[in-house]
Amino acid sequence: MLQEIIKQKLEEVKNLSASTLEEIEKARIEYLGKKGLMNDLFAKFKEVPNEQKKEAGVLLNELKTSVQQKIEQLKETIAQRQEELKPKEDLTKPADLLSLGSIHPLTTVRKEIIDIFSHIGFTVAEGPEVEDDWHVFSALNFPPEHPARDMQDTFFVENREDGNNVLLRTHTSSVQVRTMEHNQPPIRIIAPGRVFRNEAISARAHCIFHQVEGLYIDKGVSFADLKQTLLYFVKEMFGSETQIRLRPSYFPFTEPSAEMDISCTICGGEGCNICKHTGWLEILGCGMVDPNVLKASGIDPDIYSGFAFGMGVERIAMLKYDVKDLRQYFENDIRFLNQFAATI
Ligand code: PHE
Repeated sequence: MLQEIIKQKLEEVKNLSASTLEEIEKARIEYLGKKGLMNDLFAKFKEVPNEQKKEAGVLLNELKTSVQQKIEQLKETIAQRQEELKPKEDLTKPADLLSLGSIHPLTTVRKEIIDIFSHIGFTVAEGPEVEDDWHVFSALNFPPEHPARDMQDTFFVENREDGNNVLLRTHTSSVQVRTMEHNQPPIRIIAPGRVFRNEAISARAHCIFHQVEGLYIDKGVSFADLKQTLLYFVKEMFGSETQIRLRPSYFPFTEPSAEMDISCTICGGEGCNICKHTGWLEILGCGMVDPNVLKASGIDPDIYSGFAFGMGVERIAMLKYDVKDLRQYFENDIRFLNQFAATI
């Protein structure tokens, strides 16, 4: 009787086992394939007497679903076993190396400048980036409305009634003023820091850049001291063969004032594209501190004299690393910065 066969097969299916996907596939074909058992039974079903058809039909369907379920279940078991057999993470394996960043070239150059000056007794002084007019201009001998204020396009933060406007410092000379206000000579400081000018961004200018300014005040400080100090700096920074040249210039806070050039670091003075065939590169401004500036900060110019200088860190770094576009320092392009990884 068909029902008996089906019942027997139901038992058989319950106990079906397989340890590989091939074995499962074989079982599937055996039961559900075109010439498989199920089709066989369905064919036989036609011969079942009418009064038994209902019982046989239910059993037949039960068998079909249980075969399908069993096959799914066997597949799952195998997938699970394979998952378990997958090699586990090797806990004894050394950790992957983290890729380390490197020191930014501007930081390296700034540190180098500080190191060089610290060897001859200069200490680092710092001050606020948001400043007032007094410390950035007035105390430095920029008279109100004097066109010299236009030399440095300023970002203003707040206009004050008394004229002592709040602004972003355009140079770190403000730190020199603060130092003179709070200390009596001898003063020997360098002021590294960020400065801000309202300039169009280009390959040679940026609205944010870095300066290191220096100030030396004592009895009997002369222009010869200024020249010798800067010559020492340049030889340390760019190599002992480097020459300097001072050209007369103007700053409200120094008198006399000068612009300093170094012999071209690329061609050594012969003339090339970098130095525009002059053999010289301009690197900083300097001069003897104007007596008015000393007075404004409470230092007696009849007793003391001093010199000051200021340079752009980006400019020095561009010359040192032969970088042609200043903007590269601020773009944080990893391909650019990676070149300096060895300078850690
Ligand atoms: N403060 C000047 C500038 O920012 C640089 C400078 C400093 C010049 C000290 C002379 C003396 O351009």
